[in-house]
Amino acid sequence: TERTFSIIKPDATKRNLTGKINAVIEDAGLRIVAQRRIQMTEAQAKKFYEVHAERPFYGELVETMTSAPVVVQVLEGDNAMARYREVMGATNPEQAAEGTIRKLFALNVGENSVHGSDSVDNAKIEIAQFFKDEDIVG
Ligand code: GTP
Ligand code: MG
Repeated sequence: TERTFSIIKPDATKRNLTGKINAVIEDAGLRIVAQRRIQMTEAQAKKFYEVHAERPFYGELVETMTSAPVVVQVLEGDNAMARYREVMGATNPEQAAEGTIRKLFALNVGENSVHGSDSVDNAKIEIAQFFKDEDIVG
């Protein structure tokens, strides 16, 4: 079994889609083993997306992620990281496959409803940014 880190982004929480997204996650066989709704600070968002600091959309990304509450989650299951990337769909919802979260709910590439870790190593780093070990109950 494996863990990955997920964020339900502001565009989705604003449209009251947390439950619908969680249903897609659970239907895919992933278990939500930790979950918390937070207002991300600018400092948190900047640190979280530090790898994109040089990209032209970094400022917009930080603004978007702090524009409303998010739901941070730890997902657990076999191949959880890769499985969740599949369930999320392509970054740009226009390219996302049928049935994926981004195809179902995303508005555009900047408001694409969810984040998921892109490697198992990054999942560990990202989980540690938002959760204490004792708050993850598998
Ligand atoms: P995350 O799970 O959120 O990391 O998405 P990803 O791994 O599919 O995409 P990536 O890590 O390449 O980009 C991180 C986030 O930056 C994306 O989810 C988008 O919300 C945003 N992003 C990426 N490319 C663009 C872009 O061209 N314009 C804007 N506005 N946002 C972008
Ligand atoms: Mg990414």
